[in-house]
Amino acid sequence: MILLDGKTLSKKIIQKIKSNVDNMPVKPHLAVIIVGNDPSSRIYVKNKKIAADEIGIKSTIIELPESTTENELLMKIHELNNDSEISGILVQLPLPQHINKNNIITAISPLKDVDGFHPENVGKLAIGIEPYYYPATPQGIIMLLDEYNIPIEGADAVIIGRSNIVGKPMAQMLLNRNATVTICHSHTKNLEDKIKTADIVISAVGKKIVRCKMVNKNSVLVDVGIYKDSNGKLTGDIDFDFVSPDCGFISPVPGGVGPMTIASLMLNASKIHNI
Ligand code: GUN
Repeated sequence: MILLDGKTLSKKIIQKIKSNVDNMPVKPHLAVIIVGNDPSSRIYVKNKKIAADEIGIKSTIIELPESTTENELLMKIHELNNDSEISGILVQLPLPQHINKNNIITAISPLKDVDGFHPENVGKLAIGIEPYYYPATPQGIIMLLDEYNIPIEGADAVIIGRSNIVGKPMAQMLLNRNATVTICHSHTKNLEDKIKTADIVISAVGKKIVRCKMVNKNSVLVDVGIYKDSNGKLTGDIDFDFVSPDCGFISPVPGGVGPMTIASLMLNASKIHNI
């Protein structure tokens, strides 16, 4: 078994981005909007700022109260869209219930949409035109697979989870690299058989789903899940202790996809499309 070491690769990528940014006459400037007090979201936003600071990407965190209306948030986004100093805009999800997430995502200029969630960027990815930005987590996973020379062309890839943030864009990116892609979800029959015969398994569901005897000796296992177990220990979707001796490659939690997502987001945030 070989560990897919996202922690080490992410450091290398961040160094590369830093040297690119050092040479840029105009520095990128990322605006991050957070609405409300979700504790996990606050930690994610803080980590994004730390990474941006390290690289030399300017960042502004805009903290808005839970009571912010959709209209107020839209006005803020319009202001940032029109601000030539700002090169990237990220609205941390989830948003409070009373705000329609899709209206917000659609309001961000596609040129500043560092998450790659705007319909223009999603649509471009789907029809094979280069989007301004690829969604961070799938882009980070592709970089991790490439680092370990894992063949994607012709591979049978099974994605567990169909979110707009991970599952769906992951499928598009693997398809664009000529993998044969199966997206599995809560209604999927015979999940175990699909996992067992796959060359690459990417799990993004947020609960233990890939267990002992479900994989093969060459399986490449990528764990996007990250949450605390009943003992408060960080864990993922894959039962690492039981599965890792029986597979080819596996990404740990923590230290796998998490740091790659941050590095990938920083790669996006380092790009300036609006000047
Ligand atoms: N919440 C969980 N993942 C993400 C992400 O990739 N981007 C944003 N904006 N919010 C998130």
